[in-house]
Amino acid sequence: MRIVVLVSGTGSNLQAVMDAVEDGSLPVTIAAVGADRPGTGGVRRAAAAGIETFEVDFRAFADRAAWNRALTEAAAAHEPDYVVSSGFMRILDQQFLDRFPDRYLNTHPALLPSFPGAHGVRDALAYGVKVTGCTVMIADAGVDTGPILAQAAVEVRPDDTEDSLHERIKIEERRLLIETLQNLAARLLPASGTADA
Ligand code: GAR
Repeated sequence: MRIVVLVSGTGSNLQAVMDAVEDGSLPVTIAAVGADRPGTGGVRRAAAAGIETFEVDFRAFADRAAWNRALTEAAAAHEPDYVVSSGFMRILDQQFLDRFPDRYLNTHPALLPSFPGAHGVRDALAYGVKVTGCTVMIADAGVDTGPILAQAAVEVRPDDTEDSLHERIKIEERRLLIETLQNLAARLLPASGTADA
């Protein structure tokens, strides 16, 4: 199974995927890592590990549709079975989704449908929930909508800050993402001679 990973930031989820590939527990090829701006930590990590990278800078395009087309082509060039968002903070439009139907995985640091958007951890903390968590789903054109594949709960501690809570959520998020990819890879592998994907 080939994946393209999209990042906007440090890419700690990406690092976990790279580690799982490296130690043999995740039978996946990271075909490329792409970003929506230059100089992300995620692209640096990938390049240092010898993985192909691409940057499609959102600000370099006249409009969102043109950027979307360019990003779609850049990802498609690597012929992925799945595209995985690892903290990719931009919504991709229908044209991208049509190119990778049910093949775009997203993770979110909250128990969707609660607290979607760019500040899932902050919003959960501000609301005062006692349990939050993370979600892995198939992304659609909405903000953190789409069919949920897996979720894990994380308890909120009275002294939590956004950072401390996010760090504990990310531990579960990495585990969940790798588990989901393992399951998807197992489905793509020919089982007793036939693939059932
Ligand atoms: C992750 O927690 C991911 O769920 C979140 O950004 C973080 C990226 O971490 N994404 C969203 O909030 C999307 N709505 P990373 O760059 O260290 O992998």
